[in-house]
Amino acid sequence: MTGSSDKLRVLFVCLGNICRSPLAEGIFRQQVRQAGLAERFSIDSAGTGAYHVGDPPDERASAVAAKRGITLSGKSRQITVQDLERFDYIFVMDAENHAAVRLLARAAPRGVVRRLREFDPQADGDLDVPDPYYGGRRGFEDVHDMVERSCAALLAHLRREHGLP
Ligand code: 4NP
Repeated sequence: MTGSSDKLRVLFVCLGNICRSPLAEGIFRQQVRQAGLAERFSIDSAGTGAYHVGDPPDERASAVAAKRGITLSGKSRQITVQDLERFDYIFVMDAENHAAVRLLARAAPRGVVRRLREFDPQADGDLDVPDPYYGGRRGFEDVHDMVERSCAALLAHLRREHGLP
């Protein structure tokens, strides 16, 4: 069995952990699986807020993912100080999440904290994945597309950086 220390630990973070970060977790997990690298990664998501702790992913996020053959799982949880110790990479969805994680970290987190859309080849200077919660279905489609592009480039980056096949 592969020891957990061999794995790259990746955490996706948004505000509620019911829309954007569960989508990112599900999309990245599928891409990693399709690349044959499932054993090399440990992937999770969390929210900076506690509003929805224990809730399943938003059904609009689940519906958008299901159209692409991805089943979102898990229940919302709030990010902890221990997460900052445990994860090698923390990818936040927007500037507000970034500020909240930095505040939680106080001292520097062990791993790398970056905005996911830094990897989006079509970001065009806008590095936020917008919060779709109060919008319509279209917002979730847009979020899905930008997260999918970003995660694909992110996986390519991590493969290069860690010499993965
Ligand atoms: P998320 O979306 O951060 O992408 O999970 C949100 C979900 C819920 C709330 C805000 C954003 N809320 O305020 O309840």
